[in-house]
Amino acid sequence: MKRPMLSALALSTLFSLTTVAPAAAVQEESDGKVAFNNACRTCHSFKAGDNRLGPTLHGVVGRKAGSIEGFQFSAAMKSSGITWDESNLDKFIANPDTVVHGNAMKPFGGVADASEREKIVEYLKTLK
Ligand code: HEC
Repeated sequence: MKRPMLSALALSTLFSLTTVAPAAAVQEESDGKVAFNNACRTCHSFKAGDNRLGPTLHGVVGRKAGSIEGFQFSAAMKSSGITWDESNLDKFIANPDTVVHGNAMKPFGGVADASEREKIVEYLKTLK
């Protein structure tokens, strides 16, 4: 008598696991965070005021390049005249030197995969 009951329980558990899928928005955000952690977190924090080897990326979308107080930017970054938006962030992450020649974001080689970059930029937009 015990066995059939157990397998019924196992089946219903399995059923509820497969039907309770995470909402799309939540999934996207965590994908972006994973991509950010993989590619950027060695040098960048997403917390306000937390500068490491690179400046904090909190609030980076809409920010003037090289403008964080207390971080030693390269002359190239400070004088770039860029305000970060989705489009120039995508290009910068793909190949930093083509957007701000002579910047100090080394030895970061860029993220070649466009969908990874898109996830990262989507994540950066949430950091405000
Ligand atoms: C090896 C360390 C390193 C890695 C990895 C790295 N960065 Fe940076 N990043 C820097 C440094 C250093 C600067 C400052 C550059 C300068 O002053 O020229 C910088 C600057 C930036 C800036 C300009 C910020 C500002 O306030 O103007 C952005 C945007 C940025 N990084 C995004 C990213 C993203 C997104 C990733 C991951 C895809 C990433 N970085 C990976 C070191 C790194």
